[in-house]
Amino acid sequence: MNTDQFIAKSTLKFVETASFTWQTPSNIALVKYWGKSNPQIPKNASISFTLNNCHTITRVDFIRKEKSDEVVFNLFFEGKQKDEFKPKIAEFFKRVQSYCPYILEYEMTINSENSFPHSSGIASSASGLSAIAMCLMSLEKELNPNLSVDKIHKKASFLARLGSGSASRSIEGPLVVWGNHPEIEGSSDLFGIQFPYKVHPFFENYQDVILLVDKGEKQVSSTIGHNLMHKHPFAENRFLQANENLSKMSKILQEGNSKDFINLVESEALTLHAMMLTSNPYFILMKPNTLEIINKVWEYRQENSSNICFTLDAGANVHVLFPENEKENILQFIDNQLSKYCQKNHYICDTVGFGAKRL
Ligand code: DP6
Repeated sequence: MNTDQFIAKSTLKFVETASFTWQTPSNIALVKYWGKSNPQIPKNASISFTLNNCHTITRVDFIRKEKSDEVVFNLFFEGKQKDEFKPKIAEFFKRVQSYCPYILEYEMTINSENSFPHSSGIASSASGLSAIAMCLMSLEKELNPNLSVDKIHKKASFLARLGSGSASRSIEGPLVVWGNHPEIEGSSDLFGIQFPYKVHPFFENYQDVILLVDKGEKQVSSTIGHNLMHKHPFAENRFLQANENLSKMSKILQEGNSKDFINLVESEALTLHAMMLTSNPYFILMKPNTLEIINKVWEYRQENSSNICFTLDAGANVHVLFPENEKENILQFIDNQLSKYCQKNHYICDTVGFGAKRL
């Protein structure tokens, strides 16, 4: 795989100080990424809806200094110095420094905040790392004004991936594919691309309500979960199935078949958790209320001939997906019947979004 294309050209311009602010979203996978090899190469292709309201806003201030061997940065989260978040970001910078050698010539100060509550169980790594990646690319654009928007998006996704796989899908929207797939033109293991085919209007402005069943720290991190796929007895079949599911999903998205969409999305969510249940060591991230909600969603769908469905991340929270024309009824259903299964009755209403925004 040709990664040389992502090494920054020796810089043309001299920039003493610079400051950039980006807002980048979270995303929710429809076909899931679970299993990877080094360096952050997915075992199968995945596709996600980019979200709109769940996002991170990050400002990075760059001050030029003598070139050093290690990246120098300060980190503030919601106004407070956050040393506990530093190792993950330091690791990210280590992985990207050969592609962005200019970061060794700057002291960086990162100020970040999330639109969703910090301890909501919503993974902030996708939005957090994609925001930093966009700030780095803004500096690179100042240093090398010839960079095209296309190249900036591609490289930002490439960099974000090195921090967290799913972050590669948080640069663009409304649908992003990450991972090489024979039927998706331009797809790559190295970066996410916008789904390259015309999407049926049924999926326009699709809704995602995130039910916060458990806001606590997960017992098993995604990184550990991915690693457990290495010796997993069902891994090879799972990777094949996921790629087949992406072929099916591509057709569904273009043709607008809602029943097939529901079936595939829910099956992907349950398969992800089945991989966790059948890992060794095995683990369960769903909670009793996750199952209560799933059953209620199924009941509601049956009784109302609705297109409501659910998906899950690597956690207990439930993403409830539905088309915009059912919004009023489903929001009422959620408020009346599902919010009681959420911690402090909390849930977040979101819609499909269009990716990173410079502020
Ligand atoms: C279940 O992207 O969080 O959300 O690459 O180790 O940072 P790392 O993992 P991460 O894994 C996300 C897994 C998932 C499915 C998905 O988003 O496709």
